[in-house]
Amino acid sequence: MVAPRPQLSIRRARVEEAAALTELAMRSRAHWGYDDAFMAACLDELTVQPAAIERGEVWVGEEAGAVAGLLELVPDREEAEVRLIFVAPERIGSGVGASLWRHMEIRAVELGVARIGLDADPNAVPFYERMGMRVVGESASGSIPGRMLPRMRKDIGRPLASASRHAKRASPEGRGDPSSPSLGGLKRKANGRRAGGRGG
Ligand SMILES: CC(C)(COP(=O)(O)OP(=O)(O)OC[C@H]1O[C@@H](n2cnc3c(N)ncnc32)[C@H](O)[C@@H]1OP(=O)(O)O)[C@@H](O)C(=O)NCCC(=O)NCCS
Repeated sequence: MVAPRPQLSIRRARVEEAAALTELAMRSRAHWGYDDAFMAACLDELTVQPAAIERGEVWVGEEAGAVAGLLELVPDREEAEVRLIFVAPERIGSGVGASLWRHMEIRAVELGVARIGLDADPNAVPFYERMGMRVVGESASGSIPGRMLPRMRKDIGRPLASASRHAKRASPEGRGDPSSPSLGGLKRKANGRRAGGRGG
């Protein structure tokens, strides 16, 4: 008999979890088979900073009291960065990444973000494409000199400043990504808020 899948709940990370979350990120990246030297070079990049946790945009997915994954969003109204998204190796492929991603997009819409961007591990590109991201170029790795990473991006639908006066008449569904139909209501709300004068 197959054990029922534990329910995932998503909450903000706590400062005292910073070291354990860094360790999870390292274990998760090692899932792709990178060698020790490569992993050692990634440590700075994958370190979950207590200051980032304090800013409130490091999220963890928890199943039956155990952390199954984490995501850090660095908000920016033009292009917010997904700095970290890592699922515990034993939970990879079980929907944790998609759940964290959906949570992040809803949060980004709440924050009035126009676009999501990230530098992708090449092994994770199919996952990001499934989340509606597309490759728009390349970025130099911050950890490994000479390594280039796919730069990926997704518009999540905030109207441009010049269009915000018409936001209530514009079709938000037409601006966003079809892979996020459940965000339609939130997009409408966010667009309406922008129309109130903060747009840009
Ligand atoms: C990339 C990662 C975050 C994805 O999370 P996940 O929990 O494994 O992904 P999910 O199970 O939620 O998959 C969501 C969808 O993406 C697809 N997908 C996920 N990883 C995939 C892959 N490597 N290749 C093809 N499709 C993939 C799934 O099949 C699923 O599709 P569906 O909606 O049709 O069922 C996770 O695999 C991970 O942490 N990997 C190691 C670390 C890493 O590379 N992190 C990213 C750093 S840039």
